Amino acid sequence: MALGRISAIKAMEERVSVRNFTDQPIEQDVLNEIEMEIKDTESPFPGHAMIHLIKRSDFKGEVSFGSYGFVSGGEYFLVGTCGKNKEDDLTLGYIMEKVVIYCTSLGLSSVWLGGSFRKKDFENLILIPEGQDIRVVIPIGYEGGQKTMMAKFIETVNSRRDKRKEFEELFFEESFDKPMDKNEAGSFAEALRMVRIAPSAMNKQPWRVIVSSDAVDFYLSENGDFSWIDMGIALSHFEMALTEDHVFGSFTKKENKEDHKFTYITSFDKFIEEGEKI
Ligand SMILES: Cc1cc2nc3c(=O)[nH]c(=O)nc-3n(C[C@H](O)[C@H](O)[C@H](O)COP(=O)(O)O)c2cc1C
Repeated sequence: MALGRISAIKAMEERVSVRNFTDQPIEQDVLNEIEMEIKDTESPFPGHAMIHLIKRSDFKGEVSFGSYGFVSGGEYFLVGTCGKNKEDDLTLGYIMEKVVIYCTSLGLSSVWLGGSFRKKDFENLILIPEGQDIRVVIPIGYEGGQKTMMAKFIETVNSRRDKRKEFEELFFEESFDKPMDKNEAGSFAEALRMVRIAPSAMNKQPWRVIVSSDAVDFYLSENGDFSWIDMGIALSHFEMALTEDHVFGSFTKKENKEDHKFTYITSFDKFIEEGEKI
């Protein structure tokens, strides 16, 4: 991730869903930086997905943005397209959240929309790659103006940082039998903290994670329409935090990791920490 004005960890801490935007334009140099970030962001997963940055007023005639009453304002949008497979969702979640966090680091607000937008409003505004479809839309901009009734409602019900599952409900040591003690997470502690505060559809937080000394296995607790996108988001939080802490490694899908209750997605293997002896 390119360097924003604040660190990625700080940006992940600061990000919350914002559903009311002023019509203050985003400066051209900021838009250019976002375009660069979109171009540079790659996924370690095999799926196909793409991010398109659009400005409503660039289109002639009346362009509406139907958000079913969830969002007020909104001039700029990150439109996410991807293929129809779960891996495509995983990739979209991963690359899009990197760009969202970059936008946060530049002082912009945002909200992921999976359901609260009218797809046909956007279909003619972007070139949809062959085999892909519009999957999510994320208005970005400066927070301000009146919140809609729906926004106020959803923010009371399931948003905001304090509404997260306990650390011990999400993270486990060696197997699902042993909930993880926060103080035992070692070099993964900060990265797990970032997974916990990641956004997810309806704030479901479907991530379940088994941590062992040098590896971390990621599972989904449900198979909802947006679960694999939620997982991609969490994996990007995990990786951005580790990179900032100079812990490096790679994601691999391993054999024999299936669980009777949770769906296995991928594992992270740590290479070596800065200053650590080989
Ligand atoms: C894949 C995805 C889809 C979402 N779809 C919607 C949506 O359609 N409408 C909406 O108001 N919020 C939507 N959200 C935002 C979530 O409600 C929000 O991220 C969650 O409640 C946590 O709150 P926070 O983002 O403020 O931390 C979506 C989030 C994700 C990750």
